[in-house]
Amino acid sequence: MKILFMNGPNLNMLGIREKHIYGDLSLETINQMIQKECEKLGVEAEFYQSNIEGELVDKIHSTYGKDYTGIVFNPGAYSHYSLALSDAIKCISIPVVEVHMSNVFAREESRQNMVTAKNSLGVISGFGEQSYLLGLYALVARKAK
Ligand code: DQA
Repeated sequence: MKILFMNGPNLNMLGIREKHIYGDLSLETINQMIQKECEKLGVEAEFYQSNIEGELVDKIHSTYGKDYTGIVFNPGAYSHYSLALSDAIKCISIPVVEVHMSNVFAREESRQNMVTAKNSLGVISGFGEQSYLLGLYALVARKAK
């Protein structure tokens, strides 16, 4: 099994940005935690972060036809308005689990517009760094079915 963990804009600033919402772990620390869990589960993990919409689109396209079990994707604010990313998810046949650290449904109304989620397999929102692990477990469980 191979899973791509993707993060969109401003998630490289975890541990610095709005700690009361996102906690104080850096993305690097979270990725290390994911890596450890993947090793336990026998999953090969790949990590990618970009602040640029087009680069995220390209990265999604690059998985096409490859042997990925799925993508765990936190699109950041792009979740709420990027039709380009939503279309990119539709282009590939690989399942995407959308994850958010915060519970976006309990936040501003503008964050409840979920554009990328419409083409994702499902959404996990509100469990801090654990959201990424729950995304991983969802893809592993789906594969085991
Ligand atoms: C986020 C939620 C988004 O609304 C926000 O723009 C982010 C982070 C989350 O992980 O909770 O950048 O995706």
